Amino acid sequence: MGPDEEVGHMENRGVSAKGLAVVTGASGGLGLEFARLLAADGWNLVLIARSRDKLETLARELRDSFGIEAEILAQDLSVLGAADAVFARVSRCDVLVNNAGFASNGAFASLPETRISEELLLDVVTLTQLTRKYLPVMLQRKSGRILNVASTAGFLPGPFMAVYYAAKAYVISFSEALWEETRGTGVTVTCLCPGATATGFVARAEVQNVPLFKGSLAEPGSVARAGYRAMMAGKRIEIPGVSNKLLASSVPFMPRASLLRVSRKMVEK
Ligand SMILES: NC(=O)c1ccc[n+]([C@@H]2O[C@H](COP(=O)([O-])OP(=O)(O)OC[C@H]3O[C@@H](n4cnc5c(N)ncnc54)[C@H](OP(=O)(O)O)[C@@H]3O)[C@@H](O)[C@H]2O)c1
Repeated sequence: MGPDEEVGHMENRGVSAKGLAVVTGASGGLGLEFARLLAADGWNLVLIARSRDKLETLARELRDSFGIEAEILAQDLSVLGAADAVFARVSRCDVLVNNAGFASNGAFASLPETRISEELLLDVVTLTQLTRKYLPVMLQRKSGRILNVASTAGFLPGPFMAVYYAAKAYVISFSEALWEETRGTGVTVTCLCPGATATGFVARAEVQNVPLFKGSLAEPGSVARAGYRAMMAGKRIEIPGVSNKLLASSVPFMPRASLLRVSRKMVEK
């Protein structure tokens, strides 16, 4: 399939069903689960990630299983101008799931500068810019849902995953601020904060052997379901799992120096 056959005229076709949902990072992990949940509920989809083959397979599966329209956009979202490129192809959506993200594990001073830039571009900049692009039309239409995927990492600093933890703190702060800005408009912005979850994220971040990821990991299906329900209900924030909720509520009361030492032990290789 060439680039011109990818997205086509989804904006027009999307309105015939429940509406059009855009999911970033839909080729695997949580994004794939969000796509399945949306399709099962009758939303047409634009699936975005870099892996064209995986997106095509998923789009076919969702069309066949749920009778919705699903199209793909193979796009690297960790480059400047990525949100412009997406918006040029899909100028309107009713549900935006800003899910794509990755982490780097290692001493900040030795991480490649390009990797740090890509992490910030994907986890922070593109997420912000896609929100900025789609929110105005949602507000005009007085309806829309945005789900930003952060992490429990956003509740504390993370020595040896410093950029990722800081990026996710940004996503929580940004999303909560927008939840308040949009209150009463018919549009809602929800933040999902998963803890360690069994997805491709673990290998990509090379955290298989650190304590945080050595215990039992959450299933992506149940994490995505919690996030999906929270988004559709217009909740401010969703933290799936009792231990994750406990972490989020106890961090503000912990002495900062001890917190940093514990946090370091959880992810240092
Ligand atoms: N798994 C966890 O333990 C965990 C915990 C808390 C929060 N999260 C967050 O959950 C979100 C989803 O992650 P996941 O766990 O589902 O990880 P995953 O299995 O690695 O999936 C990440 C998705 O993002 C896409 N992606 C990665 N880099 C991209 C890029 N440069 N441009 C476009 N798409 C890109 C990947 O597809 P391609 O490779 O095909 O591009 C894939 O579809 C992330 O924001 C992550 O930070 C994960």
